[in-house]
Formats: sequence, structure tokens, C-alpha cells
Amino acid sequence: MAQDTLTVTDNRTQQTYTLPIEHGTVRAMDLRQIKTGPDDFGLMTYDPAFMNTASCRSSITFIDGDRGILRYRGYPIEVLAEHCTFLEVAYLLLFGDLPTQHELKEWVGEITHHTMLHETTKKFMEGFRYNAHPMAMLVSTVAALSTVYPEAKDIHDPANRLLQSKRLIAKIPSIAALAYRHSVGFPYVYPDNDLSYAENFMNMLWKMVEPKYVANPVLARALDILFILHADHEQNCSANAMRCVGSSHADPYLTTAAAAAALSGPLHGGANEEVLKMLDEIGSKENVLAYIKKIKEGHGKLMGFGHRVYKNYDPRAKVIKWTAERVFEVTGRNPKLDIALELERIALEDDYFIKRKLYPNVDFYSGIIYQAMGFRPEMFTALFAIPRTVGWLAQWQEMLNDQEQKIARPRQVWTGPEVRQFVPLGKRSPVAAAR
Ligand code: CMC
Repeated sequence: MAQDTLTVTDNRTQQTYTLPIEHGTVRAMDLRQIKTGPDDFGLMTYDPAFMNTASCRSSITFIDGDRGILRYRGYPIEVLAEHCTFLEVAYLLLFGDLPTQHELKEWVGEITHHTMLHETTKKFMEGFRYNAHPMAMLVSTVAALSTVYPEAKDIHDPANRLLQSKRLIAKIPSIAALAYRHSVGFPYVYPDNDLSYAENFMNMLWKMVEPKYVANPVLARALDILFILHADHEQNCSANAMRCVGSSHADPYLTTAAAAAALSGPLHGGANEEVLKMLDEIGSKENVLAYIKKIKEGHGKLMGFGHRVYKNYDPRAKVIKWTAERVFEVTGRNPKLDIALELERIALEDDYFIKRKLYPNVDFYSGIIYQAMGFRPEMFTALFAIPRTVGWLAQWQEMLNDQEQKIARPRQVWTGPEVRQFVPLGKRSPVAAAR
């Protein structure tokens, strides 16, 4: 009869062990009993880059990479992108259910009333070098909020956690906008509480001397959709950083700064900026073939292509494509789109990419839209960080509420020497020093 167990035989000892299988996993700790003798530490798993290790149970975001499925709390991303606002989705991710009309009104009101930055935070940001990268400013400023809200340290109080989460969701657009205004030398624009989340962000970025900023509704909706698409993505590099740092019980500002730092890398959220650099480098449709040849020869990667989990089309990239069409009706077509489409066409017909199941990911088209909307490439990753803050906070809450979680602390396989004889400074051989 079929049983949910795994039977393994240790060929070193001929002993057989039966381990329970739950949710398609065996517990790594169950392997510890497999020993060659009483002094043996016990068997461990070795899994660099977590290629096949589940680090938590989660009910926030579901991905089926082979079928190109992404769902938040059970709802398909395409449905949420079509019918919801970003703050509605934020509520869903944090609390598990879509809000009622009344709950949404209250939630939007609460977020809206936390958008202001303390004046000292503004001064802190003004101290950055004129050409500081917005993402580096964002990471540092989010960490600095820990000094403004020292009570955030009490992470065991659910009400306090929620208050800090609201502050983070509300203030992150203000921080990103101020980072942008700093980089172009314009004064900070204070939030406008009459506006929606996306409109207010646009106001803080682009308001000049007009008494009231009026956002283009198509662009504001497109930005809101992009925020929905980027809100969470289960156990990716930055979510893992959030859980890992949060597991030491650091406060949510420092923890979110750590996650944002992870996002900034070019293999993660920094890829959208790299895609634009790549399209600039390619220059025109005619050069695409030669560029792909170079990639296949091992010179670099096609940025915005490939994913650890998606081995089929990234469903977010699909939504982005139809959002792009609406944006371009307002802004005019970004000429980089033609290069991107040609790149996608050729890559998807090429054996190298087919064999490795490399498809465009969310970052492939997002940058083209952002640029058409008026964002500079240096801002792209900050645009990713704004909605992803919600996902990080949902992951953080779930981790803190999970009785099984402890401080994250992986093991290692030791490959260094056994104990060595100390050699005094004057007697060390140059060969050893050079090594
Ligand atoms: N261009 C060319 N070859 C690639 C690419 C690419 N973009 N991505 C993977 N490969 C190759 C890789 O060289 C390897 O080939 P081989 O088997 O011959 O050694 C094979 O495909 C498997 O790749 P991998 O590096 O083992 O895959 P991974 O799961 O470790 O990496 C990834 C996933 C997203 C880091 C990688 O695909 C990549 O670097 N892509 C470009 C950067 C990018 O677009 N990142 C955004 C990811 S989506 C948004 C987000 O999560 O932030």
C-alpha cells in the first residue's frame, strides 16, 4: 500500500531509515539520525543557493513555474491586475483576504495618513552626494527610519508590527520620490492626501510650480498595475533576506533595508535597469542577432531573461505587455520596444534559450514602460522596491507567527584544513603568504 514515507539505506552502515514525507518534502532534520557511529554529527543536506530546499511553509504567494502560474492568496495575478488597486492587493497580501468596501476605505485612509517623512529624514537624505544612486539612498533611508521609530523594536506586539508596516508602505514612495528629486536637484514635494497611492507618488516625483498635480489617469493606472505585479513573489532572494534578517528579531526598518539591499542586485530587482542599458548597447533591431550570438558564446547574460522558478512564460510579463500598449497610446511608442520585441522573437526561436527554458521575465518589459512614462533607468529598482515592501512585510509577519521558525542559521560543509601549527610572524614562508 502507498505510504507517505521515504525509505533510505545508508550504504556505509547498511542501516535502513524510514522518513515521513509531508507536502512533498522530507525534513532535513530527520536525516540527522543517519550516522556512521556515535561520534558522527549525522547526515546533512548540501544545497547551495537553495535550489531544492523549502525554508518555510507559506500561504501568501503561489507559483507554478512550469505552468506559468502566479497567485496571491489564491487569486491569479491577471485577475488582480485587472480588477484591483494596489492598496487592495496590499491588504490581501498582508491580511489574507480581499477587503470589503469599508475595510478598503479605512485601509487607504490609514496608509494615506502615514505618507509624510519626518523633517530629519528629509535632511538626512539631503546629505547624500548629488549623484547618489536612488536605490542606495532608499536602502540607507529605510534603515535610518529605525532611528525615527525606536518603538519598532517591539516586534512581538502585533499592533505595533502593523503600525510600522503601515508606515513603511506609506513612506517608501515618499523616500523613492525624494531620492529622485535629490538626483535631479529639485526640492522635495510633500504628499497630497487627496490623491491615490500611485497618483501621489507621481505628484511627489513630478510636481513643479502648478498648484495641484493632476496625474494622467492611464499612466497612474498603469503604475498601479505594475505595483500589483511586483508586490510579492514568494521565496526570492529579497524575501529570503527579509525572513533571514527578521529571524534575528531586528526591527522592521532594518529588516526591510536588508531586503531592499538584496533587491538592488542586477540578478534580482536591479535587472530592469540593466535591460535598458542592454537595449541601449544593442542600439537597433539589426544588431540583435549579433548580440544574441555574443551571449551564446558566453559573453554576459540576456538581461530580463530567465528565472529560477519560471520555466515557462512569466505571467507578469504578459500583463506588462498589454499595460505597455495602453501606456504607449499616451506617451508614444518607446523605440526600444522594437529592439525588445525582436530580441524576444529571436531568442524564443533559438535552441540555446529553448533548451534552457529561458523566457522574458517581469523585468524585460517593465523598464521600457517606466522609461516611456518618464522615469530614468536609475529609478527602476526603486520602483520595484515600493510594492515589494508589502510582500516583504507579509513574509516577515508570516515568519514571526510561525512557531517552527527560529533564527535562520544554515550549516556548512567544511573544506578548510585540520588544526594548523601556528608560525610566528618572522618565520612564515613566502609561498604560504602568497597563497
Ligand atoms: N541569458 C543567457 N543565459 C542564461 C540566462 C540569461 N539571462 N539566464 C540563465 N542562463 C543560462 C545559464 O548560463 C545556464 O546555462 P548553462 O546550463 O549552460 O550553464 C542556464 O541558463 C541555467 O541558468 P542558471 O544561472 O543556473 O539559472 P538560475 O536559476 O541560477 O538564475 C537568474 C536565474 C534570473 C538569476 C538568471 O536567469 C539571470 O541571471 N537572468 C538575468 C537577470 C535577470 O533578468 N534577473 C531578473 C529575474 S526576475 C525578477 C526578480 O526576481 O527580481
